[in-house]
Amino acid sequence: MARKVVLAYSGGLDTSVAVRWMIENYGVDVIAVTVDVGQSPDSTGEDWEAVRQRALVAGASEAVVIDARAEMANEYCMRAIKANARYEGKYPLVSSLSRPVIAKHLVKEARRHGADAVAHGCTGKGNDQVRFEVATRALAPDLEVLAPVRLWGMTREDSVEYAAKHNIPIGQSKEKIYSIDENLWGRAIECGAIEDPWATAPDEPYTLTNCTTAEPDTVVVSFEAGVPVALDGEAMDLADLIDAMNRRAGSRGFGRIDMVENRRVGIKSREVYECPGALALIAAHADLEDLTLERDVAHEKLRLEPRWSELVYDGMWFSPLKNAIDAFIDSTQQHVTGDVRLRFEAPGLMRIEGRRSPVALYDYGLATYDAADTFRHEDSAGFVRLWGLGISTWATKQGGVIDERPR
Ligand code: ARG
Repeated sequence: MARKVVLAYSGGLDTSVAVRWMIENYGVDVIAVTVDVGQSPDSTGEDWEAVRQRALVAGASEAVVIDARAEMANEYCMRAIKANARYEGKYPLVSSLSRPVIAKHLVKEARRHGADAVAHGCTGKGNDQVRFEVATRALAPDLEVLAPVRLWGMTREDSVEYAAKHNIPIGQSKEKIYSIDENLWGRAIECGAIEDPWATAPDEPYTLTNCTTAEPDTVVVSFEAGVPVALDGEAMDLADLIDAMNRRAGSRGFGRIDMVENRRVGIKSREVYECPGALALIAAHADLEDLTLERDVAHEKLRLEPRWSELVYDGMWFSPLKNAIDAFIDSTQQHVTGDVRLRFEAPGLMRIEGRRSPVALYDYGLATYDAADTFRHEDSAGFVRLWGLGISTWATKQGGVIDERPR
């Protein structure tokens, strides 16, 4: 059994109770590691230091907060943008992207502290356990992974009671309705009324996508080699750019998703999301690809994108297939450079109004029907005849011909 455990500590009820529970039940030293991937520290408005202190009060021998916001943006959201990533065509992988970041830091801290196990606070019903464990095994196959919450069988009330008994301060109130996971890429909301797929999702848990203005907003997103680098001509770090996009698109109510999804563990689940920046940036990126990618490359990429999303959703961020698809995607992005103009209008509408690129494959002379036409019309007749040659041979010899003669 492990002696030193590095726990992914969110500051919430479950992970706070997990600190004490592992000490009591396993006799281990717990090092609490909180990874800032762009979430707000606490729903009650506390800061990271308060979260750190709570871990110590719960019994952690050490508590660290790691700022991984830039890493989340530059290595994870960046890849999701290049891949136009949306699981089952809808969900831009919010939680799926943050788990490998967190797992990587858990492993780093485990090495730094000479720990022999890492731990997480996931239940047995979700995808996040899969992501934490598979990512950890990919990075450090020798480390044990502990999942106390999956094991202890406490209800929420039991956990609240356990916390009270051990003087563990809990940030949230007893009657927490929703399970919310958030980071730079958006927010995932589960539980409560949402669990009835027929019920209208309540407005109350949304924080990023409330219409706060009726004024439409036009934004020009500039990309270099597939990566957004500026908004309205102002260069920004990707983390800040995503943040700004969340606010601009979100304030017009854009970015909500309501879906029933297939979890890796075989459960269908109704979830709602708000991802204004992610959805806007992916839409802009995909549109710029329409202008700059050669046809066969574009079509092949469209086939691989759902596979990439599925792999990441299923916890395979660190895997040879995901790496191989990334290599393909990277090689397609060299010329995905240019601007896309988006317009947001309350309530929740987005339109792509225009796109341009110094390396666009759109050629006005070829496309136009007016006098500037440079297309060689005479080439088409032979091309089309050969394109259809096999079909006309088949029709002649094997009766594809419509024969209206009376028999
Ligand atoms: N269903 C989403 C996913 O698997 C969101 C999960 C949110 N996680 C959470 N602990 N609330 O990626």
